[in-house]
Amino acid sequence: MQTFSQYLNESGIDADLSQLLLTLTDSAKSISNAVQHGALAGVLGETEQENVQGETQKKLDIITNDMLKGALNADSTVKGLASEEEDHVVSVHRDGKFLVCFDPLDGSSNIDINSLVGTIFSVLPAKNGELTEQSFLQSGRNQLAAGYVLYGPSTMLAITTGSGVNFFTLHPETGEFLLTHADVTIPADTKEFAINMSNQRFWQPAMQNYIADLIKGDTGPRAKNFNMRWIAAMVGDVHRVLSRGGIFTYPTDNKKPNKPFKLRLMYEANPMAFLVEQAQGVASTGYESIMDIEPQEIHQRVAVVLGSANEVNECLKYHA
Ligand code: F6P
Ligand code: MN
Repeated sequence: MQTFSQYLNESGIDADLSQLLLTLTDSAKSISNAVQHGALAGVLGETEQENVQGETQKKLDIITNDMLKGALNADSTVKGLASEEEDHVVSVHRDGKFLVCFDPLDGSSNIDINSLVGTIFSVLPAKNGELTEQSFLQSGRNQLAAGYVLYGPSTMLAITTGSGVNFFTLHPETGEFLLTHADVTIPADTKEFAINMSNQRFWQPAMQNYIADLIKGDTGPRAKNFNMRWIAAMVGDVHRVLSRGGIFTYPTDNKKPNKPFKLRLMYEANPMAFLVEQAQGVASTGYESIMDIEPQEIHQRVAVVLGSANEVNECLKYHA
C-alpha cells in the first residue's frame, strides 16, 4: 500500500504543497495520539475560556489548536493561518505561499463521550504583501487542497488536491497513513439523511417540506423509505456520506434570530464542499454552491446541504 508521502511524490503535487500537507497530517498523528489517550492524559473536559463564537472551549480544542499552530509555525510554506479557535488571523512566514484555515477538533461535544471527532483543513494561495484578514477572503473555488482527519475506531485522512478524493488509514504500528480507498465517489442516489431533527420547527418552509416528504417514506411522494443518522460532528457525517452516500444538512433556522446558520464557511463548509464535489456529490447552501460564496469574514457561517447528487438536487427543488 502506498504511504501518503509516496502518493504525494507520485501524483506530481507541488513540492511545497506536499510539504504543507505532510506538516498537517503529521500534526494530526499527534492529535490522534492525544485523543486516544483521553482521560489517561487528562485532556478531557472544559476550560473556562470561550472562543470568538461564544462557545466554551474544551481542553482538547485548545491543545489541538496549539499543536497545529506550532506545526504550521515551523513550516516555511505557510504565510498565515485562521482557526475556529483563534479570534483573528495569525501571520506565520512573510514569504510563505499558502494560507491554512482549520477547525482543529470538529465535533468537540463528542470528546467526553468517546465518540467521533476530527480535524478539518483548507489550503488557499497567499498573495505577496502584508497579511490581513482580507487575504483569506477567497471563494472556496480557490482552494488548493482540503481534507480532514477523522479520529474514530481507525484514524483516517480524506484528502483532495483537485483531482479526486482519496482515503488513507493511519497504521497504528508504523505511524504511516496508507492509501486504503482510492478515487472515492459518492453514489448519486441514497436513502439516508442527516439533520438535527430537534430544530424542525425553526427551519424554513422549504426544508420543512423536504424532510416531511422523506419521512413519508414509500407511501409519500418519494416512494421509498429513508433512514436517519446524526453524529453531531460534521466530520463524521461527511465521512459517512463520502463512504456510502447520503444527504447531510445543517439548514437555515430561526432558533436564534442573530445566528441563522451553524457551520463555518472557511474551515468547515468550504473544505467539505471541495471534497464532496471532487467525489461527484453536490454542496450547496440551498440556493447557491458553497464554493461560489465570496466570504465577508473568516468566522462567517453558512447553511449547508451536501451529499449524493440526485438527493441534494431533489432538496434544492424545494428551495427553488
Ligand atoms: O462544528 C459545529 C458542529 O459541531 C458540527 O461538527 C456538527 O455537525 C454540528 O455542529 C452539530 O450540531 P448540533 O449541536 O446541533 O447537533
Ligand atoms: Mn467544527
